[in-house]
Amino acid sequence: MQYFFIPGRLQDLSTEELKSVLKIFSKSKYSVDATNKGFILVDSDCSAETMREIFNRLGGFVKFGKILSEQEERDFLNKYLSKGRITFGVSRVGIESGPIKVKKLATEIKDYFKQNNVSARYVGGKGFAFLSSAEISGNKVLENGFEIVNLETRVGDLLTGNTVAVQDIDDFTKRDYGRPVADKKMGMLPTKLARIMLNLAELESGSTIWDPFCGSGTILTEALLMGYNALGSDIDEYAVKGAYKNIKWLSQNYNLGDTKYSVFESDVMRPNKPLQKKLRYTSVNAMIFEPYMGPPQHRVMSAYTAEELLTNVMSLYKEIFTFAERINSPNLKAVFVVPSYKTKKGWATIRYNTFLSKRWKVHNREGLHWSRSNSIIRRNILIANLKK
Ligand SMILES: C[S@@+](CC[C@H](N)C(=O)[O-])C[C@H]1O[C@@H](n2cnc3c(N)ncnc32)[C@H](O)[C@@H]1O
Repeated sequence: MQYFFIPGRLQDLSTEELKSVLKIFSKSKYSVDATNKGFILVDSDCSAETMREIFNRLGGFVKFGKILSEQEERDFLNKYLSKGRITFGVSRVGIESGPIKVKKLATEIKDYFKQNNVSARYVGGKGFAFLSSAEISGNKVLENGFEIVNLETRVGDLLTGNTVAVQDIDDFTKRDYGRPVADKKMGMLPTKLARIMLNLAELESGSTIWDPFCGSGTILTEALLMGYNALGSDIDEYAVKGAYKNIKWLSQNYNLGDTKYSVFESDVMRPNKPLQKKLRYTSVNAMIFEPYMGPPQHRVMSAYTAEELLTNVMSLYKEIFTFAERINSPNLKAVFVVPSYKTKKGWATIRYNTFLSKRWKVHNREGLHWSRSNSIIRRNILIANLKK
């Protein structure tokens, strides 16, 4: 069967995330075609239900669905003729994604239902050629009908898909803004990015992660939700208390199964005894973190300020990676953020070979990143592991 996956803003990062999740969870053979046209095609023997579970683990995708065969496409609308009323949507992605074509198809579908005495409500997207996850869930399109997605693989070549699920945005929002403690001053990692980073580590269920700059615990909470054990540490006692409060809130709102967690106050420049002891008796499978990247910046900075911030971040990396080489964790993986700052002279960043010893193998030299348009800080995401 062929499936389509539609990424959020960052196709490269999301494609890598999807590949990682398929590697861990797909029991059947599969192949991935990253198309680079705003959608990713996956050929797999997996059932739509297994694909739905895979989709639900992802942070970087807004919808996924099944590509219809020609026969399925011909029969598709007939399945809804027995219903008195339906709601439907149409989206188009690819090279020539155009509102006019979407409108034309929607009108044809509406007319077809009218001729067959079905009352059909068409939900048009704000962007018109594309219905967002919020528009689909808000209008209960999938519960009361369907969404057809046209995917243009190249000019004139069209695949037709049927949306199976959309991202549960309300649930991400609940975790981003509904948790009791949020430290805006220190900068919070978006929950979706925390999830993407955890997925990139390709961990088996029951693995243990460590975030040595855990702040109020976004990576820890997302890890627990995904079935991993979580260990956090932070230099700041209020961050540690905040992380505990957020984990408690999470456990009251979600089922965390038998996952375990602990959070320590400790400086990565001088890891204290309690943390060292914990690490001695815990086999950590991956370090997932965003380091302290300096106070929040609101405008393009001078090259000097960027240099200063990067020098500070660099000393944190040097310490944490040297320390990590000594803990009792063979095959340790690391998925972490390296910042780039926009300066008046262009983007400034640090190269990983200035802080990682030869004992680390970096998997994505070309670099993936997460940023918003107009942002002055770009988060580069690196994936590495400690060589045997
Ligand atoms: C960007 S925040 C992490 C935010 C976290 N990912 C979240 O979303 O809540 C960086 C954290 O690093 C901590 N930090 C700064 N210097 C540190 C050090 N030397 N050792 C350990 N933690 C440190 C800060 O207290 C802060 O909580």
